[in-house]
Amino acid sequence: MVFACASAILVLIFTYNRSRIRGVPNAVTQQHLIKESGGTYRIPKGRPPSVNLVVAATSKDDYSWVKHLRVPELVVIPYIADNISAPHHAQKNKGHEAMIYHQYFYDFYDNLPDISILIHSHQQSWHVDELLEQDMIFSLNRLDLREVQQRQFLNMRVTWGNGCSASTINTTRVNEESEVSPEQKEMQEAFRANFNVYEVPEILATPCCSQIAVTRERIRGVPREQYKRHINWLLNTNLPDNISGRTWEHMWQHLFLQKAIDCPIEHKAYCRLYRKSNGVP
Ligand SMILES: *[C@@H]1O[C@H](CO)[C@@H](O)[C@H](O)[C@H]1NC(C)=O
Ligand SMILES: *[C@@H]1O[C@H](CO)[C@@H](O)[C@H](O)[C@H]1NC(C)=O
Ligand SMILES: *[C@@H]1O[C@H](CO)[C@@H](O)[C@H](O)[C@H]1NC(C)=O
Repeated sequence: MVFACASAILVLIFTYNRSRIRGVPNAVTQQHLIKESGGTYRIPKGRPPSVNLVVAATSKDDYSWVKHLRVPELVVIPYIADNISAPHHAQKNKGHEAMIYHQYFYDFYDNLPDISILIHSHQQSWHVDELLEQDMIFSLNRLDLREVQQRQFLNMRVTWGNGCSASTINTTRVNEESEVSPEQKEMQEAFRANFNVYEVPEILATPCCSQIAVTRERIRGVPREQYKRHINWLLNTNLPDNISGRTWEHMWQHLFLQKAIDCPIEHKAYCRLYRKSNGVP
């Protein structure tokens, strides 16, 4: 009797969990199962990895907050979108941060640190998770660089709400206006043009907002000329700037991991990626 009862409860719990995740595309849940069987988590010893913090800014942005960062071995590299006299700059102020990130990968290809972190210039924004106080100083000071090395490429935002559970991109919806994702109907063409492929994944999913961290190995896993190709696409596309930049929010995970869907299970990714503060009490 007790056994039957316990079994019934288990079945109920199982069914409940199943129904909760049914809204998520199949490939997403399958990926979690693979991730979960990955074994124990380990922090490698050794000196801290070297890090470039690439700040995508325009001339009028104030990114002086970076002086409060306590990340060991950090070198800040501001890239200015609208000033070709700046030491590091985009060829043209077009395609938002995507243009700058590709320019950095191209410029620094032979001179990369262990890890490159690429961010927008704002200290506070909704692009940073609420659990991290939506604050770049708070989150970068807690970022676990070993986890970045482990995963090789990741989106600094962890929550699924924008890009994983909701607002995933369905690339077949080329004729459908979408208010939340106006770039969705352009994604198929953008993906084709950038990667020179005919088959485009049906679903593209990753947490939003294009603030990313990537290792030297992954950057060099892509031929240098390919970054040029992406720069040229951004330079030449007829899409409005705010759309062409946004198409890249959904393509970094393909560029660096060859994955269409990169949505690690939230609570695990969050606890592994953000730890106690680096050298800050
Ligand atoms: C552009 O960059 C140069 C070199 O850093 C600097 O001297 C100049 O003031 C900048 N111009 C603007 C408009 O910020
Ligand atoms: C993508 O959109 C098409 C057209 O609306 C739809 O038929 C298809 O089921 C969608 N794919 C997924 C995985 O939701
Ligand atoms: C993109 O820019 C155009 C014109 O500047 C504006 O009308 C439109 O609302 C913007 N779209 C997004 C998604 O920001």
